[in-house]
Amino acid sequence: MLSDLLNNPNTGKYFVLLTILIFGAMETYGGHYKNTTRTKDDWLVEWGGFVVLSISSFLALYGVIAVGKLLLPTSFNSFSNLSLWLAVPVYMLADDLAQYWYHRSAHEYDFLWKHHRPHHAAEEMGIMVSFRNSFLYYLFIPNVWIAAVFTFLGMIPATIIGLFVKQLVVFTSHSTVRWDEYIYKIKALSPVMWVIERIFVTPAFHYAHHGKSKADGISDPNGNFGNAFTIWDQVFGTATFTRQFPTELGLQTNPKDSWSAHLFYPFIKSDKAGSEIAKGFKRASTATLEAMTVELEAGTHLWCQCGFSKNAPFCDGAHHGTKIKPIAFEMKKKRTVKICNCKHTKTGPFCDNTHLELDAASVLRINQE
Ligand code: FES
Repeated sequence: MLSDLLNNPNTGKYFVLLTILIFGAMETYGGHYKNTTRTKDDWLVEWGGFVVLSISSFLALYGVIAVGKLLLPTSFNSFSNLSLWLAVPVYMLADDLAQYWYHRSAHEYDFLWKHHRPHHAAEEMGIMVSFRNSFLYYLFIPNVWIAAVFTFLGMIPATIIGLFVKQLVVFTSHSTVRWDEYIYKIKALSPVMWVIERIFVTPAFHYAHHGKSKADGISDPNGNFGNAFTIWDQVFGTATFTRQFPTELGLQTNPKDSWSAHLFYPFIKSDKAGSEIAKGFKRASTATLEAMTVELEAGTHLWCQCGFSKNAPFCDGAHHGTKIKPIAFEMKKKRTVKICNCKHTKTGPFCDNTHLELDAASVLRINQE
């Protein structure tokens, strides 16, 4: 029975379905759906994404097997005797590294960002949030292709075990059933959690990625890109460890696009004015040669470095889809300050008069660099 399951390429999909049912039941029992603020569009984009991902993995699996048998017939099942002790880690690490860079690219390149943006438009978490991406995002997502190649090569049990572990981590890191929150309360387990956090993505680690902005001192929407493991974030310098959970989740500026625009952009565009996925949307530079004199309250503020914010000189989230991030800075007390808006200061966020040496063209160039 177990051996039949481990050799059936569809077992992973049954497991995903079962996990959704179990976590869905736990979230329902916890009152999550009774108090939800999810709209009809949220539900549709989540379940639509689930259907699209299922179709995409089905096409990738049977497509790779068919094409592989045609072009590389001798490679079919050629690794079926590889030890599971080797095959599982190799599969999981390859899958997770590819996903790290795909996910990170979706935050740093405009074309991909628009397809990952539905994921961050969610203002509350839940297991189904993990399925919020556009259909093009799911068509090119490396995981389904890597799983198909490993299956073609005969490593079916390794892909099933790997998918089992990975999906468990991904679902728990999106779920409102935050298992780590209970463990953080037990002081004696703190060192154990330290080790777990350095290996696996925990709910706190991933919630920080969904937080609205760095200004809350917990979130880092431009970091914590890991899927199952935190090791890539640590290796590539994008990890922010926290044991707190942000209270504000989602996009800084959310025009509430329809489910169809979220899922089928660019074939369906948003009808919401100013939306990044609306027809004819173009980011415009708001950088200026002059610094801005503003009175700031005590507390944390976010300085826009990308030069696209409509709330210049402060960040409004327009940097998503670029490699530029805002800078969080602290004001100890209420003060009037000169904030740089040419984006060339060396004492950011404060003006150092560098703008006096610049011309308008070099100011506007900042966001193309
Ligand atoms: S809008 Fe966030 S850095 Fe410019």
